[in-house]
Amino acid sequence: MNFADSEVVGSILGKAGYEVVEALDGADFCLINTCAIRDNAEQRVRHRVHELRAVQGRRGPGAGLRIGVLGCMAERLQSRLMEEEDNVSFVCGPDAYRRLPELLAQVRRGQKAAEVELSTTETYADIEPVRLASNGISAYISIMRGCQNYCSYCVVPYTRGRERSRDPQTVVAEARSLFEAGYREVTLLGQNVNSYRWSTDAAATVDFPDLLRMVAEIDPSLKVRFATSHPKDLSDKLLEVMAASHNICRCIHLPVQSGSDRMLKLMNRKYTVAWYLDRVDAIRRHMPDCSITTDVIAGFCGETEDDHRATLDLFRRVRYDYAYMFKYSQREGTYAARHMADDIPDAEKTRRLNEIIALQGEIALENNRRELGREYEVLVEGESHRSKSQLFGRNSQNKVLVFDRCDALPGTYRTVRVESCTAATLIGRLVD
Ligand code: 5AD
Ligand code: SF4
Repeated sequence: MNFADSEVVGSILGKAGYEVVEALDGADFCLINTCAIRDNAEQRVRHRVHELRAVQGRRGPGAGLRIGVLGCMAERLQSRLMEEEDNVSFVCGPDAYRRLPELLAQVRRGQKAAEVELSTTETYADIEPVRLASNGISAYISIMRGCQNYCSYCVVPYTRGRERSRDPQTVVAEARSLFEAGYREVTLLGQNVNSYRWSTDAAATVDFPDLLRMVAEIDPSLKVRFATSHPKDLSDKLLEVMAASHNICRCIHLPVQSGSDRMLKLMNRKYTVAWYLDRVDAIRRHMPDCSITTDVIAGFCGETEDDHRATLDLFRRVRYDYAYMFKYSQREGTYAARHMADDIPDAEKTRRLNEIIALQGEIALENNRRELGREYEVLVEGESHRSKSQLFGRNSQNKVLVFDRCDALPGTYRTVRVESCTAATLIGRLVD
């Protein structure tokens, strides 16, 4: 989401005459787009801000590097952040990016500046993002902003404001212009894409499955992905649309957070384990080859050993292809911080998290072993991160396939047969 937001910021500042530079050395401003979801995300930002102090110190007077903090951490801490980190010149929240040219002008006049107003309507729908650090093949498209699910542990509703959807025509136009520029994969982004909804008096309501179909119809060779789905809103209509479109990826990110009904209730997730498993069954019924990935939190308030075991059991039942696994991190201002005790000792959170990580590692490896001998159509992305003599791409399930360097061009579809694997990667050979 921040990646997509930075591309909106790049566009707004580009129109105001600013240019993105490759190296910090030539820069007048350094803008850090931030996440506030867990304390360690914020600590990493603070560390970065401290490191930049050295760069600022090396610059002569009048040639200063000004630092701005954007995004959720700016929204959460507001001008307090500039008091705590005195080398930061401005803060700008996620709904205020249109004001950045004025903020930068103010900073150039030697003032500090803060803009953290949230909006109920801002979607940056009319802004064509500039693609930053792009491979020219995959791009993110933000289709909605904000969240009002108020999961009790989560700071996002406070830092990103009310949920609002973007005009579907602007989404389709953005995807089409990416396709025409050679891109072959778009990922539609929202905190809870399944509650995407757009209605005007003139036209019927467009919901997420409708939008997905509209984007997929641009061209059969445009791969369409999306994230994130809240289990409470995952509809059969969505699964039907996915199953009917070859170019919509066979992968669903379905954060579970916990495998215990008691925890899910305390987390205000609004579904039960039985509901979640029914949705998993529905996915597999419609698309037996669909990969499912998740997010999980270890050591939330009051989590017992039994609750933790229930999470491990759920992991064994669903057999996720990938999971993002976290220790609970208390966030100021959330319902949990105000009303519940963060009572699981850190060492215990770590132990539980490590158990989940170890189990998921085994499951991912077992899942991948079942792929041996299968052939997949792969969108080639480029050189493997590990070795210059190999290329990589991803299949419809979003799994990475690595194969020997050959004439396969980035941005083309090729067929790869899986010959070996690790827990994270399938290794294969081109067979077309
Ligand atoms: N502590 C730990 N993990 C969290 N997440 C959200 N808030 C917290 C928190 N306070 C996780 C959830 C969510 C993912 C994006 O981050 O698993 O799905
Ligand atoms: Fe946070 Fe819950 Fe919204 Fe996800 S759905 S952003 S976890 S409040």
